[in-house]
Amino acid sequence: MSDRHVLVLGAGGHAKVVIATLQAAGRVVDGVLDDDAALCNSNILGVPVLGGTDCAGSFHHLEAIVAIGDNKTRRELAEKVKLDWTVAVHPSAVVHAGVTIGPGTVVFAGAVIQPGARIGAHSIINTAASVDHDCLVGDYVHIAPGAHLGGTVTVDDGVLVGIAAAALPNVRIGSWATLGGGALAISDVEPRIVAVGVPCRSLRRDRKLLRSSGIVPGRATARDAMPHATFIAPSDSRWREVLACTRHDVYHLPEYLTLCGRYENGEPVGFYAEDGESACLIPLLVKQFTGSIEMPSAWCDVVSPSGYPCPLYTEPPDANRVSMYLRAFHDVCDEIEACSIFVRLHPFLDAPAGSAPRTVYVHQGETASIDLTVSEDEMWRQTRHGHRSDIRRLEKLKFTIVMDDWTLYGDFVRMYQETMLRIGADPIYQFGEEYFQDLKRAIGTQLHLCCVKSPDGCLAGGALLTTVGDIMQYHLSGTDAKYHRLGPTKLMLHFVRTWGKRRGYSALHLGGGVSARKDSLLDFKTGFSPHRHVFKTLRMVVNERRYAAVTLRAARPLNLSGDLDATYFPTYHRFSAS
Ligand SMILES: CC(C)(COP(=O)(O)OP(=O)(O)OC[C@H]1O[C@@H](n2cnc3c(N)ncnc32)[C@H](O)[C@@H]1OP(=O)(O)O)[C@@H](O)C(=O)NCCC(=O)NCCS
Repeated sequence: MSDRHVLVLGAGGHAKVVIATLQAAGRVVDGVLDDDAALCNSNILGVPVLGGTDCAGSFHHLEAIVAIGDNKTRRELAEKVKLDWTVAVHPSAVVHAGVTIGPGTVVFAGAVIQPGARIGAHSIINTAASVDHDCLVGDYVHIAPGAHLGGTVTVDDGVLVGIAAAALPNVRIGSWATLGGGALAISDVEPRIVAVGVPCRSLRRDRKLLRSSGIVPGRATARDAMPHATFIAPSDSRWREVLACTRHDVYHLPEYLTLCGRYENGEPVGFYAEDGESACLIPLLVKQFTGSIEMPSAWCDVVSPSGYPCPLYTEPPDANRVSMYLRAFHDVCDEIEACSIFVRLHPFLDAPAGSAPRTVYVHQGETASIDLTVSEDEMWRQTRHGHRSDIRRLEKLKFTIVMDDWTLYGDFVRMYQETMLRIGADPIYQFGEEYFQDLKRAIGTQLHLCCVKSPDGCLAGGALLTTVGDIMQYHLSGTDAKYHRLGPTKLMLHFVRTWGKRRGYSALHLGGGVSARKDSLLDFKTGFSPHRHVFKTLRMVVNERRYAAVTLRAARPLNLSGDLDATYFPTYHRFSAS
């Protein structure tokens, strides 16, 4: 029997069961904290309510548990209060010895957790629920009474699996999704969806969300015209279907988006909508407010991952159709309580501009590309005189090019990192070793490593390029400081354009300057070709009330129209550095 004393945060019905569970497990519950002043001095199962959660600091000598059933509220409190979180397991629960359970999690009477399962922090495995072998249950999850998860089910953070709901083996329930009471998930459930029924289907019209976003039920919205507009997971088959019939780039690959989600701290999703004749897909990251801006936990911004992941349309749209999609996009973002949208458009996969309330398109800068459909002689003619002399000099000095020799990858990564430090690049470009390994895994054979070797066999320069569809992208490059003056990258791009042309690619997109500026990097790139493109971004304030609240919380002046055109959008955060 443990003699460790415990503090319980929350004094509602769920807290009563948590206290009963702790007491049954032989723990001593010293007190309860709750922000409802009316409950102060009352007691639950003989345990006194001592005050509000703001006095939690006085109890740091106790272990504690947040006993609030609602996942978002539980997370808010667990993140706000700094205490030593304990685990409560009812003695009648059957938990296999190898199961791991994170701090703050409760397992109620009659629950069963089978071998190999892993349960995150601050989750609830409620009365008589079962979690079968090898399930992965995230943080702030609630598996409600009598709910059942088959083997190897993945339940991402924040999910509610409602009373008597169930998931078949191997299914994944996306983060912050809700399986309604009695629902049966027979395949993956997308993040943030409310799904009901057997087999479950998404409850497209979640009235609570519509009410909270201020849309009057009954009023026609773009969502009515596109009732299937939704967010989809990168693994959703509709993603591949859109890619199969659209010209697209590396930035549209679900693997690329998932990688960006990991390194840019956002949840990877696609906006997907159909209008009967065409479909639209936009790769996105949903970013929660963290750190300095504390806001309701559901509020978020919807932003593009880095690169140029513009909307894709299965049929070339006119401006009216783009507007219709934009409005449906707005409504879907409003439903997840987004504050703003920031989408990076592709410099040459263009669609007409649409219109929607509080929406602007901003000209960010220029990019350059090489047209690979012209002859090799023509490409040479299009090359600036200075570049041509440097290329000839490097050839004379016997610098050589090696394509896709991945034994050089480690050296390339070190050279890239040194280059970024040398030029004082923004930390967003300073990728670690792990990123490069993940990038290679994610993009596979569509990622290419081009290296320049000096006459004595040293690595002088190199770049990573992608080839997706008919488009080559110049992704990341570096130069050894020793050879910097010779400009080995020039020889490399000269080689690579011919390499790409001979393999049938039609364009090598070189990108623009640093942060889309007109700088020496853009000048270097434009030395290879006269082709210029305009890089634009699309910005939208989804909900003025939420946007204003975040701006004020970040202590920034509120100027909606000025903000939409600002260098960084949304201005309250550097989430969306362009
Ligand atoms: C799914 C759920 C979250 C929806 O809640 P809501 O957004 O308030 O939805 P509403 O009550 O407005 O219902 C909307 C529609 O969905 C239907 N619906 C709601 N819950 C449903 C369910 N579990 N199964 C089937 N249909 C359901 C309603 O009948 C209604 O249909 P209608 O539009 O044809 O009239 C909620 O009903 C639910 O099941 N929650 C789980 C609660 C739970 O298990 N908690 C654990 C406590 S320990």
